[in-house]
Amino acid sequence: MPKVLIATEKAFAAEAVQLLKAELNAAKYEQVWLENYTDVNELYAAVADAEAIIIRSDIVDAKVLEAAKKLKIVVRAGAGYDNVDLPAATAKGVVVMNTPGQNSNAVAELAIGMMIYMARGKFNGKSGSELAGKNLVLYGFGFVARYVAKIARGIGMHIYAYDPFISNEIMTKDGVTPLCSVEDIFKTGDYISLHIPATAETKKSINWNLLGLVKDTCTIVNTARKEVIDEEALLRAFAEKKKFRFVSDVEPGCAAEMMEKYGDRAYFTPKKMGAQTEEANVNAGVAAAKQIIAFFEKGDKTYKVN
Ligand code: 3PG
Repeated sequence: MPKVLIATEKAFAAEAVQLLKAELNAAKYEQVWLENYTDVNELYAAVADAEAIIIRSDIVDAKVLEAAKKLKIVVRAGAGYDNVDLPAATAKGVVVMNTPGQNSNAVAELAIGMMIYMARGKFNGKSGSELAGKNLVLYGFGFVARYVAKIARGIGMHIYAYDPFISNEIMTKDGVTPLCSVEDIFKTGDYISLHIPATAETKKSINWNLLGLVKDTCTIVNTARKEVIDEEALLRAFAEKKKFRFVSDVEPGCAAEMMEKYGDRAYFTPKKMGAQTEEANVNAGVAAAKQIIAFFEKGDKTYKVN
């Protein structure tokens, strides 16, 4: 029976581990668990005879793939797969999948939570502001953005979105006003929530041409990838726009400078934690196990991304 390696530098919650084990046990698949590892050599060794791997943000690059002589499938338990070298996997005939939507509500709740945290001055006891009545713009309208929109509707925000790959009908059905250009995102938002993937096209794409357009009071919330923002432009936005705020799930490279100069206007999670809930871990972990079983038993390649 196939041997599955579960390699999670940031381990799944205990309940997810239990359910994932049960899923693979029921299929009689062999399992190897490598959790909270700190040395990539541990991964090279563990992957050597695995036919399948389940990962989170763990890096699966050409070296890992080279060490994995029997590998047939990698499932990223989550949405973003910028941590997997897709061309290298394809060249080796390895199928790569993600588990879209499974951890999205957790990320959306964190995005909204961080907005409230900043609107209320990091809960400092002083007078803050409310989200109701403010413009929320979603840059990208995938699963996470749709959950953010759902929560924001309940709060009473005016919701806008821009996503060149999603039809206006889908947005309007969700009560979201479609915007026509990337520039409109940055001009319109009191809160701008980023939901674009990190690709060659999007990396550093949020530059001064866009950040220069934001309102003086704008708050940007990043639960996507830090690489999509040009950090020099971000520092300039803090310097030129006196009430500009920025919150991010995982700190940017310039975090120390930002906290020192603009600490009351910035917040960063200490470790990426958008999807770090029991529910998200259960959903994404079990989905990953099911996808691996369906792949080996039925040749099912739904959710293949390479
Ligand atoms: C994702 O892409 O699904 C999220 O960024 C979550 O990543 P994580 O599993 O490493 O927490």
